[in-house]
Amino acid sequence: METIYTLEWMKQVARQARADGRVVGLVPTMGALHEGHRSLVRAAQQQCSPVIASIFVNPTQFGPNEDLHKYPQQMDADRAALEELRVDYLFAPTAKEMYPDGFRTYVTVEGLSTRLEGRSRPGHFRGVATVVLKLFEIVQAQYAFFGRKDAQQARIIRQMAADLNLDTQVVVCPTAREADGLAMSSRNAYLGPEERRVATVLYRALDEARKEITTGERDGARLVAVMRGVLDAETLAAVDYADIVDGDTFEPVTRLRRACLAVLAVFVGQTRLIDNMLIEEQDGAFLVAL
Ligand code: PAJ
Repeated sequence: METIYTLEWMKQVARQARADGRVVGLVPTMGALHEGHRSLVRAAQQQCSPVIASIFVNPTQFGPNEDLHKYPQQMDADRAALEELRVDYLFAPTAKEMYPDGFRTYVTVEGLSTRLEGRSRPGHFRGVATVVLKLFEIVQAQYAFFGRKDAQQARIIRQMAADLNLDTQVVVCPTAREADGLAMSSRNAYLGPEERRVATVLYRALDEARKEITTGERDGARLVAVMRGVLDAETLAAVDYADIVDGDTFEPVTRLRRACLAVLAVFVGQTRLIDNMLIEEQDGAFLVAL
């Protein structure tokens, strides 16, 4: 695996791969790699060669009181993990390369960016959309791979790609989980042992909603109440939001319809965790993907 630090070299390598008729796949990450990231790499390798993984802790998507400065950095371990997966290139630009002095242009996906995660983290999706557009422009991959764990992010990136006529196809992959259901996340490293136990509450809440749906519940407010019941029982967990939303608009729904999401953001101690569950109608029945 070759590690590439500069934008110009990355552009050149990717341009050459396309000229050689190869299908380029991009897996953008902020590092501290876990099984969720690895599952994206494996999905990319099914469809693409070369696969380029990027590691860049993007400062513009962190709020002033967020965890930018304590975000886990483990470049050597990450490089080893990507080597083991036989990733072709690691793109690891510096913040100065990505945001040189005088940088002024940002991308905002209107509407979708101000709900849920966007409401709790103002400016977050502006930073995400901006850096992802830059990565798409630099690499010009045919495919880019994102996790459904960050469902609103994936939705926003897909919207941006459509609105700006980008040639990169956005592929969204299922959520990788620990054995007890906790969604893999780089931020799980912040959890102490007791918090780690409490953190399963997101999965438990979604799973209760899932059971209600399979026994016929269709009412949004009642499903939210079921999730709240599980979340409120954990005194160490503080709910930021718990909702059932339309999978397209991320607006709350009163009754389940075609494609919805149950979405959660919960503080466990100081650590903010998110999770979601896809609820899709097929032949009159609702199928749930956790
Ligand atoms: P990061 O949190 O490192 O996540 C990188 C990718 O891994 C994202 O697409 C995310 O949805 C996916 N991912 C995270 N946890 C996952 C899990 N448990 N299962 C499957 N996929 C998972 O998301 C970002 O970085 C950044 O916002 C980024 C898109 C790189 C822009 O800076």
